[in-house]
Formats: sequence, C-alpha cells, structure tokens
Amino acid sequence: MLNKNQTLGEFIIKNQTSFKYSSGELSSLINSIRLAAKVVNHEVNKAGLVDIIGPTGDKNIQSEKQQKLDVYANEKFINTLVNRNIVCGIASEEEQAFISINSNDKNNQNKYVVLIDPLDGSSNIDVNVSVGTIFSIYRRKSKIGTEVSIDDFLQSGRHQVAAGYIIYGTSTMLFYTTGNGVNGFTLNPAIGTFYHSHANIQFPKHGNIYSINEGNYLQFPDFVKNYIKFCQEEEGDRPYTSRYIGSLVSDFHRNMIKGGIFLYPPTAKNPKGKLRLLYECNPIAFICEQAGGLAINGEKNILDIQPKELHQRIPFYCGSEEMIQQFQKFI
Ligand code: AHG
Ligand code: MN
Ligand code: MN
Repeated sequence: MLNKNQTLGEFIIKNQTSFKYSSGELSSLINSIRLAAKVVNHEVNKAGLVDIIGPTGDKNIQSEKQQKLDVYANEKFINTLVNRNIVCGIASEEEQAFISINSNDKNNQNKYVVLIDPLDGSSNIDVNVSVGTIFSIYRRKSKIGTEVSIDDFLQSGRHQVAAGYIIYGTSTMLFYTTGNGVNGFTLNPAIGTFYHSHANIQFPKHGNIYSINEGNYLQFPDFVKNYIKFCQEEEGDRPYTSRYIGSLVSDFHRNMIKGGIFLYPPTAKNPKGKLRLLYECNPIAFICEQAGGLAINGEKNILDIQPKELHQRIPFYCGSEEMIQQFQKFI
C-alpha cells in the first residue's frame, strides 16, 4: 500500500521480515546504497557549477571514455559499501576485476556481493539529461570465511536477491525489488529523505513507445528492421512514438511508467550487443519481470542466461509484456 509519508528507511525496516533470509543484512545493504545515492545525487546536481563534467582523459576496462562523474560515482558507491563493511565483494562496470572485501576473514559474516553500474548514461552528463545508477545483489555461493571467487559474481539473474536503480532526473528516485514487486521512492532534496511514491508499480501490458538508437539502423539484423517498420506502420494504435534518451535507466523508467519497448540489438560496432549483462541487463530484467514486463536477448529470458564473464555484453530487449511478445514473432 502506498503511504507517501513513509520514508525509504521505514519501508525497508517494515518489509525486512517478508524477506525469506531476513537477518537485517540486506536491509543495511540497501540503506548503504541509499546513502551513497544521496551523495552522488548531490554531486550530479552541481554539474555545471563545479569542475566535474567532462572526460577524465582515461578509458575504462571496456575502452570507453571515462567521465569524471563515472569515476566519482564509482568511488562513492564502493567506498560506502567497503567502509560500512556490509558486503564481501563488489564488481563494477568501471573496474577490471571484482573486489574482495575481507572475504577470507572467518569473522566476516557478510554474505552478499554487489554488482554495479555506478553511472549509467554518462554521455548525457554534460548536457543536463537524466543519468542513473544500477545495482544488483546476490548471495555469495562460496563458503563464509573463504575468499570470494568469480563464480560468486557469475550467477544467472534468477539468483538475484535484490536489484534497483536510482534515476537522477527532474526528481531523484530510487526503485528496487527484493522479488516481491517493485517500489519507488522520491527524494525530497530539501531534507535529504526518500519518500514512498510508487507502490508495487506495474508495466502497462501494452504501450505505444519504442526506444532504440535508430542511428544504427543499417547495422541492425533484419528482424529488428522489420519490427521498426511494424512500429512505424499506420494501423490500429500504430505508428508508435519513438523516444530514446540514451540512458538505459531513463529509457526503461519511462517505458515502465507509460508502457513501451526498449531495444539494443547487436550492431556491426557491438556484434554481441552493447549493454552489459551483469551491471545493466540482469538488474533491469529483474525489475522488469517484477513489474509484469518481459526482458529477453532474442533467444531466452535475460534472467536465465548463465554469465561467462564479468563484463559480458548481450543484445537486450525489454518492456511491456504484449509488446515483447509481438516483437518475438519477428525473431
Ligand atoms: P554507460 O553510461 O553506463 O556506459 O551506459 C550507456 C548505455 C546505456 O545507458 C544506454 O542505453 C546505451 O549505452 C546508449 O548507447 P548508444 O549511445 O549506443 O545508443
Ligand atoms: Mn550503463
Ligand atoms: Mn556506466
């Protein structure tokens, strides 16, 4: 039930017992993410006033230009989780290898690992367009007291215990799921508190928005070209409206609220797709399914893919159930 006076902190405590492994650890972890989100939000909001926009001059592990805010957000989320001693491992889009946090210490009972895209949509920072943060949480597979290993991070999306995103937009919102529906919270910046604003949000079963970077049109597989043509045809509720921000979080968020489909197919430049399975597709797919939508790679549900490597990329299609089902007929 929606109670707009309820804060995120209160909501987490109230719902802790409904979580099957409830020990308070997951609650503390989400609280830490909430804290880091506020710090990053503060910095994102100052972009333009202080020297934080623009590239660092360095490239990340995936040979992408790093923006100053990419690096800032990465440090804030990692430092918050490390300093609060709340997880045993972190993998980030901005880091080559996963980070182990005292995981071989027998006294360290922390059983969760976090995977994170600290700043999503970085190409939009300099032009005052919404960016986001995406996170995904798993229980470690390895035994407590032993070093975390790559297998703790390479779990299929079905094993996520929680996932969420923060959108730094016209207002700042945090949406997350622990497998019990999706709830959203909006930050009141005057007092730095997130309030419950969206209870158990559901995708409209059908929508009229399609989101794809059509600049890559000539490189798309034929079935995607055919589907775009279908979206543009004048028939029934079509043509659909095209909306593409270039921040997955923002494009997904809009489609979840209004109804729509998001597509990032393979292209000549990114033959395996561009979006990252572990930091982007899995958490968004978990939220998508929990909100009644569907997320696929063209062959199977995203959440059923067994990851092979940390920075793996895949084709990604997600959105309103009926729209994805319609799209599947073209594959
Ligand atoms: P990131 O900023 O974390 O690297 O992610 C950018 C991603 C995603 O947010 C967005 O959907 C997509 O890249 C946009 O790609 P194009 O610019 O190729 O359309
Ligand atoms: Mn991203
Ligand atoms: Mn990113």
